[in-house]
Amino acid sequence: MIFEQITTGGCQSYLIGCPDTCVAALIDPESSQIDRYLALAARDGLRIHYAIDTHTHADHFSALRLLAEKLGLKTVMHRQSSYRGVDMRVDHGELIVVGKLRLNVLYTPGHTNDSMCLIAEDRVFTGDTLLIGGTGRTDLPTGDPNALYDSLFQRLLLLDPALLVYPAHDYKGRGHSTIGAEIVENPRLQRRERDDFVAMMHALDLSMPTHLTEALRTNMSGGKTIAEMLAEAAASVSFMSLAELRRQIDEQPGDLVILDVREREAYLSGHVRGALLLPRGQLELRVNEELPNPTQRVLTICEYGRISTLAAATLHEMGFQRAIALDGGMKGWRDAGYPLDTGADPQAD
Ligand SMILES: [Fe+2]
Repeated sequence: MIFEQITTGGCQSYLIGCPDTCVAALIDPESSQIDRYLALAARDGLRIHYAIDTHTHADHFSALRLLAEKLGLKTVMHRQSSYRGVDMRVDHGELIVVGKLRLNVLYTPGHTNDSMCLIAEDRVFTGDTLLIGGTGRTDLPTGDPNALYDSLFQRLLLLDPALLVYPAHDYKGRGHSTIGAEIVENPRLQRRERDDFVAMMHALDLSMPTHLTEALRTNMSGGKTIAEMLAEAAASVSFMSLAELRRQIDEQPGDLVILDVREREAYLSGHVRGALLLPRGQLELRVNEELPNPTQRVLTICEYGRISTLAAATLHEMGFQRAIALDGGMKGWRDAGYPLDTGADPQAD
């Protein structure tokens, strides 16, 4: 088996491949690491056929949708997954065939109700069901400590003690463990009575993961993350630097339509000389009256440079091919000590 372990912060993902057929699968891929997965697969001479999530992740952004779009591969999750973009819904006891490799599916609910572990030859990918020296938490949506107890003590821990354990997370830089070592050393697995185990899980006072709602929203629905929306918008427009805008205002007034897309209050408190006010929320509805010439060069400005990027991309979609955004926004303009006008839009009534 060709095997790559990819560590990103505390997250672990895996590329496994069949050396005879060059077929590969990704386990728990993360959206920020797609280029790395593709580079590793190319280096190892593999073609990725499957992207598998061991469960619905609440703490990072799954790469399943993007990988399916880019590579046309099959996405795989347990049949309980609520993500509509799953191509292959698997169940306990089934096999995922990766060339000559076989991934044996073990249904292990508890951390979530769609959690599964995957056995491949001498190792088991445990997702967040079993971690090195820990277990997945059970206080997030669809978590259930009673189910986790059953999954661990009546299923996972009954496997060969020599099996290598590769979890979806490790925050201490450890690569893997074994089932046998976890049975002996994992503190949570010393609570072998159900009531004791469940009480311990209920008593854990864990902080909520960063990006919890956004990760659940995008991983469950296949929707886009904010970072993805911004990256797509940024890829379709070009930008003007603060210094260049300053130069253009000084030298060529009137050559450029400067559109401040912040709210009125922010605009009145200080804007770039000559800027028109058109809040982002009104952009589509007022664009015809405010920007009658679609060949005009339009520069969008907001506070930090993100909303203006979205606004410029929207203008592009509407036919303003020369729409660009200010790189840095009004915060950068003020920090640079550049001049501000206050008061009303010069074209306003
Ligand atoms: Fe998880």
